[in-house]
Amino acid sequence: MQIDGLRFMMVGGASGMGRATAERVAAGGGKVAILDREGSAGAEVAASLGGTFHVCNILDFEGTEAVVQEAVDALGGLDAAAITAGGGIAARTLSKDGPHDLDAFRGVIDLNLIGTFNLNRLQAWHMSKNEPNDDGERGVIINTASIAAFEGQIGQVAYTASKAAIAGMALVMARDLGSMGIRVNAIAPSLFDTGITAGIPEDFKDVLVKDAAFPKRMGHPYEYAMLATSIIENPMLNGGTIRLDAGQRFAPK
Ligand SMILES: NC(=O)c1ccc[n+]([C@@H]2O[C@H](COP(=O)([O-])OP(=O)(O)OC[C@H]3O[C@@H](n4cnc5c(N)ncnc54)[C@H](O)[C@@H]3O)[C@@H](O)[C@H]2O)c1
Repeated sequence: MQIDGLRFMMVGGASGMGRATAERVAAGGGKVAILDREGSAGAEVAASLGGTFHVCNILDFEGTEAVVQEAVDALGGLDAAAITAGGGIAARTLSKDGPHDLDAFRGVIDLNLIGTFNLNRLQAWHMSKNEPNDDGERGVIINTASIAAFEGQIGQVAYTASKAAIAGMALVMARDLGSMGIRVNAIAPSLFDTGITAGIPEDFKDVLVKDAAFPKRMGHPYEYAMLATSIIENPMLNGGTIRLDAGQRFAPK
């Protein structure tokens, strides 16, 4: 799909990798709708890109349906969507206080897995109404996993479960939606310099990326955006989870 003229929904677009992706799509001539939480910088980011902002908490599963509709109406349809809204907690399966809190585990699954799938099913529904392009494409969906989906560290059991599920869904959804010309991929970043990692002290960032092959640094949000727009543009990228990690493999801790 071409970026020029693309009708693009960026969930989590107020900050970090989502913001960089919205900026890159807008710079390429795409039309952008940003969904993000109340109190985020979503309105300012959208205004700077000539796009629209739609307040959305993806944990409000019923409310999200109406917000997605509102964003699609503003765009005049939906060709592509990406999701970076998400997050995690740090807790071991067992700690000195006892077993992992089950509600805390469920909360991470709700945010990353159910939140993502809820958006995907609605996004795919809107995309299915498009006239196919010359290659038969009606839409493309990009989800955000993590390299923790494959080698989660100590204390990441809930986060890894949710991100492994996002990675696992990519091929199944691509197969489900293939007959409609809708592609689904996930991006699995290593550590990226975004709002979520902003509180990490500089010297500790060096420790966190020491196992990367090259470059030994955190990723820049625009490097995520470069991959996201490649996925949009390249019809052969489908059903996969693409690592964006400078060759890093997480150690146990
Ligand atoms: N930054 C990293 O090192 C890294 C590495 C691997 C995976 N990830 C994944 O990337 C995503 C975070 O993106 P980022 O790193 O650009 O962080 P970020 O904090 O800069 O941006 C995330 C955006 O998502 C929004 N968001 C969070 N929860 C939301 C909710 N419930 N409803 C709506 N919007 C919500 C935030 O307001 C924020 O604007 C997460 O899914 C995270 O697991 C990040």
